[in-house]
Amino acid sequence: MSQQPPSPSPTQPPQDEQARWEERYATPDYLFGRAPNAFLESCRGLLPRRGRALAVADGEARNGVWLALQGLEVVSLDFAPSAQAKAAALAAEAGVAIEIVAADVHAWDYPEAAFDVVADIFTQFSDSAQRAAKWAGLRRTLKPGGQLVLQGYTPKQLDYGTGGPKAVENLYTRALLEQAFGDFDDLAIREEERELQEGPAHSGWSAVIGLTGRKPAAG
Ligand SMILES: C[S@@+](CC[C@H](N)C(=O)[O-])C[C@H]1O[C@@H](n2cnc3c(N)ncnc32)[C@H](O)[C@@H]1O
Repeated sequence: MSQQPPSPSPTQPPQDEQARWEERYATPDYLFGRAPNAFLESCRGLLPRRGRALAVADGEARNGVWLALQGLEVVSLDFAPSAQAKAAALAAEAGVAIEIVAADVHAWDYPEAAFDVVADIFTQFSDSAQRAAKWAGLRRTLKPGGQLVLQGYTPKQLDYGTGGPKAVENLYTRALLEQAFGDFDDLAIREEERELQEGPAHSGWSAVIGLTGRKPAAG
């Protein structure tokens, strides 16, 4: 009788994806820069003065470190060890402590109602099924009234090729974001074309969409 190879456990990170990111991060430079994402920074006024923040797929933690500098207790979640080593160095340099968690964002056990802020910035490696799992986790882990800040590329980005995934199903449209987060309070969705300078990986004229909103009490 032939034996089937064991299926990967849903809690194990997908090895070839992880290896691909490790290869990308195998440079002493910060692939996405050391400064925070401009959209996240523009949302400073929406953040609470204290509380807990989750930075999803935070890589080298430019965003996690910036959130910690705003006075938040940060969990920086990613699965790439090289990026997380740079994240620790960036936090030390900035003089802030962040909790660095190594896990697959599609399989992490998102604790219920645990975070006041979730930052989901450029996590478009997820296909539609993975995205549904990830966004269900983000929704679960936000406290009622908690602030979501999300940015990604739109399909128009395929014309520019200045960063982001090549698969159109991974890109965001207003309709997609409304379908996922349309019940959020104070929802704002902004589509724009602008110059991004976020390290060598995101550089040049870009088509992006950003969302802010608060988890509803019954969400
Ligand atoms: C485009 S980078 C963005 C990093 C960060 N959010 C930023 O804006 O600087 C995507 C990040 O997702 C991470 N990543 C990709 N797939 C992942 C997965 N399944 N679980 C955890 N992290 C993942 C990569 O290691 C990488 O750091």
